[in-house]
Amino acid sequence: MRQATISGWGKCVPPAVLSNADLESVMDTSDEWITTRSGIKERRISHVECSEMATVAGSRAIAAAGLEPTDIDLILMATCTPDRLIPAAAAMVQRRLGAEGAACMDINAACTGFVYGLATASSMISAGLIDRALVIGADKLSAFLNFAVRDTAVLFGDGAGAVVLEATDRDEGVLATTLGTDGSLTESLTVTGTGSESVPPPVDGKTIHMEGREVFRHAVVRMGETAAEAIEKAGLTVDDVDILVPHQANIRIIDNTARRLDLPQEKVFTNIASYGNTSAASIPIALTEALEEGRVRPGANVVFVAFGGGLTWGAAVVRWGERVVPLAESAAALPPTDKTGLELLAARPGRGA
Ligand code: ACO
Repeated sequence: MRQATISGWGKCVPPAVLSNADLESVMDTSDEWITTRSGIKERRISHVECSEMATVAGSRAIAAAGLEPTDIDLILMATCTPDRLIPAAAAMVQRRLGAEGAACMDINAACTGFVYGLATASSMISAGLIDRALVIGADKLSAFLNFAVRDTAVLFGDGAGAVVLEATDRDEGVLATTLGTDGSLTESLTVTGTGSESVPPPVDGKTIHMEGREVFRHAVVRMGETAAEAIEKAGLTVDDVDILVPHQANIRIIDNTARRLDLPQEKVFTNIASYGNTSAASIPIALTEALEEGRVRPGANVVFVAFGGGLTWGAAVVRWGERVVPLAESAAALPPTDKTGLELLAARPGRGA
């Protein structure tokens, strides 16, 4: 049976760090509050636009698969912070990569975007529409943070991650996916002032509004349910799961999801302490680090699960192939910066910090 297997992976995290101590210096918060409520210690702030981080992650994933950019049939970018409304950020990535001929589109399912992208691209491969896809999750939510609003400002960071999906007849790849949305909760997590409802665009107001407790409550229920559904759909049980790579929104949400699934802690990958919530980028960044740390074994059953604005949720079950090391490395890198996270934030007029 024709399936879509992950043959390449890569990440790009910008160099400028914003620590909890930095945040303490510009707002009424504490390292203790942030750590106990979310598990986050530091996050990255990007000095470049979203498509540039996405291009570096994409280039690394293509090299890891042993391919050239021109081998890619589809670039699918999951993002809620594209550089511009038009064109799709994926088209900007295509130009930067030199991936001529690839079809390009963006998907916005907020933090669930990577799982939506994986489901879409793997279905297109299984249906025989394309042979190879580059699925990128990339977000630059620092552009929409107001450092006067402490409940959201401490949670998010910037980054990008990517995978290459290829058609295979082997018994591996994306086994099952589940996707869902509850549109009645659109106002629980939103950035207003950024679309056609606001013409002319306001200068202020483009800030994340989040009803934290409401989002938390739905997140823990949906993440557990959707992961369990995908595992069952794949014909597996929780005991068959080798590693869970969840969206990194909050360590308490992750722990709660693992408990609901009855999955032991050692099977759950987390890196939230280093990056915070990087939205659509969080799962492919975490997957790349899980591979780098030898946490994904040949033939492993890997589960991705996410939750985000919409409110959206989704999960994917992937049987890993034999290869857990990259075939090659890309020389792509972000331009250097000598700015700190705080200096980059201060350069944004009217947004605090
Ligand atoms: N520093 C210090 N105190 C703070 C901060 C801060 N940064 N932020 C809020 N507080 C205060 C509040 O004002 C409140 O004070 P009060 O009791 O005097 O009113 C107190 O801390 C407790 O606030 P709660 O909202 O009850 O804290 P909670 O335990 O719910 O944690 C949090 C808040 C971390 C936001 C949590 O609700 C959460 O993680 N929610 C889910 C968020 C999430 O996952 N979002 C991402 C979705 S993905 C996407 O699509 C973008």
